[in-house]
Amino acid sequence: MKKNIVLVGFMGTGKTTVARILAQKLKRQFVDLDDIIENGEGRTIADIFREKGQAYFRKIEKDAVCAVSKNTGMIIACGGGVVLDSENVSRLKDKGVMICLTATAEVISERTKSFSHRPLLNTDEAKTKIEELLKARKADYAKADHTIDTSSLTVEQVAEKILKAAGEKKK
Ligand code: S3P
Repeated sequence: MKKNIVLVGFMGTGKTTVARILAQKLKRQFVDLDDIIENGEGRTIADIFREKGQAYFRKIEKDAVCAVSKNTGMIIACGGGVVLDSENVSRLKDKGVMICLTATAEVISERTKSFSHRPLLNTDEAKTKIEELLKARKADYAKADHTIDTSSLTVEQVAEKILKAAGEKKK
């Protein structure tokens, strides 16, 4: 079985960008859980949070994890909160190697401040919110098989580290 490479980690750690690069390098299919959710619902994540609330979002996120984790050989970029549900973690790890991308609160704050599509960070106190969420989620992110600090790395360097951690060679 060709394992999935599953990227988890906080918002702004580069999961989607790096997943695209990995998919190119390995000639594998790339899927982004947030895209699947938005396509399935026909509206943005910000709208889902606003109209239906976070609990509903987590429910459809779990459905998306169930669907995606049936596949093998894919590069899967997950939303930052996927690891909050332990069943999501075990499903994704079942056929995949789970890599957690991390960064400091300062770096995350810089990388995310000019975007408004992340409802949890749409607050005047985004940096404080980032620090709080990082602390609250620390144990959940620690469930990944490997952790890579992206704070001072380029996306290429992160991709290379993931290839090494996952034991994959470029095609
Ligand atoms: C979330 C992260 C987002 C998205 C949603 C909730 C989170 O994905 O799923 O806004 O709880 O950390 P990204 O990590 O891809 O921004």
